[in-house]
Amino acid sequence: MQVGEVVELTLDGLSARGDGTGPLDGREVHVAGAFPTERVRARVEAISRQHARAFASLEAVLTAHAARREPPCPRHAVRGGACTGCPLMAVELDAQRAMKRERARALGLPVEGALAGAGALGYRWSSKRVAGGRAGALTLGSYVRGTHEVADMRGCLVDHPRITEVADAIADAASALGVPPYREGRGDLRYVWLKTDGARVLATLVTAKEESEAPAIARRLESVAAFAWSVQPSSGNAIRGDAPRALAGEPWLDVAIGGRASRVGPLGFLQPSPAVAAMAYDALLGDARGAPYAGRLAFDLYAGAGVTTARLRERFAEVVPCEAFPESAAALGVAPEDAATFVARQLGREVDLVVANPPRAGLGADVVAGLARLAPAHLAIMSCEPASLARDLDALTATFVLERVQAFDTLPQTPHLELVAHLSRRDPHARLAARRSDE
Ligand SMILES: C[S@@+](CC[C@H](N)C(=O)[O-])C[C@H]1O[C@@H](n2cnc3c(N)ncnc32)[C@H](O)[C@@H]1O
Repeated sequence: MQVGEVVELTLDGLSARGDGTGPLDGREVHVAGAFPTERVRARVEAISRQHARAFASLEAVLTAHAARREPPCPRHAVRGGACTGCPLMAVELDAQRAMKRERARALGLPVEGALAGAGALGYRWSSKRVAGGRAGALTLGSYVRGTHEVADMRGCLVDHPRITEVADAIADAASALGVPPYREGRGDLRYVWLKTDGARVLATLVTAKEESEAPAIARRLESVAAFAWSVQPSSGNAIRGDAPRALAGEPWLDVAIGGRASRVGPLGFLQPSPAVAAMAYDALLGDARGAPYAGRLAFDLYAGAGVTTARLRERFAEVVPCEAFPESAAALGVAPEDAATFVARQLGREVDLVVANPPRAGLGADVVAGLARLAPAHLAIMSCEPASLARDLDALTATFVLERVQAFDTLPQTPHLELVAHLSRRDPHARLAARRSDE
């Protein structure tokens, strides 16, 4: 196989980014814009040196997936657009869900049943936009995959309609004010993080420096949204900058998830799809048979806005949350702390349940090792990335039995899914042994 070569192959898998993948010449070839079951002609663009993997661009679909369709969004690549945020939009929703479940299964996760979900469009209550375009014609969008080009997301169909409306209004206001988008150390507006409770919108403007038009944007639009402002001067891609300042309206939202309200601030995490998150929380907080967990002591790792902490407190005598991000930790009434440090500090305590909802990278080796030593009776993990969950579960199975894995379609049109895994302590004496080895 050589770069530039045109190949034909049949695809049988889905990558984390939503590419169709298939075997050819001992390599796994990734083809963006194609899907499992399809036979395609593609041009080899890159061959990995570390892995038996190659990347190819789609030239023609020779045999199309039975559920292929014209994507409803005009900004999708199939319709000549530049946005790469919704790669699965070119197949029907049921087929998207089947592909995602099969991807999780291919990684060794015994996902049961079809993926549960809610609305296919307008579902996203939290949206991070990147500023692009130029002064006088500023756009808000997302990075085109693999580049730092910004694809305009005006009129986005998956964001909640209120978020789309406010994002488009911010782009218009910033353009009218001549705000330059940040690029390579120059410019002003970097990101806009928009969140909604279904009615109000809180928009956090992230700028590169103090000298900024952020207050002027907020003044123009204070009748349509609440605004906060954070300065993020570093050269990296981090969205969270310095402590946010309120510019207009109340700088928080009270968002009800599964009937329970929690308060989220300008830089705090909000489940992007609360309706489906509520289903996942119900699964997370019930045991493998669906009965609610209850007991004396529970830890809630990666607690975020505290939705799970509040619910656990209804059934446990003591619930201790752990959260690293200062704004969220303060709202939870705890000091910000890394999960690995927290678990290490709790060794020796008799814990009934640990709930963990880590970011995409998963728990990682230190937290997994800490949990094996802590050996709680039950462990319930919510994860948004099957590959990291599969890795964590592999490492946890010496101490815990995997009882059940469920999957939820939190972000239709994208390859993302939310997984809930239930484990219980394998050997009732394991904790004792772990404690002895600590002594
Ligand atoms: C996927 S969110 C889950 C939040 C919350 N459980 C919820 O459902 O809304 C992950 C959370 O973990 C926090 N976090 C990230 N890395 C962490 C770490 N190493 N230790 C503790 N918390 C961390 C983030 O700030 C974020 O609030």
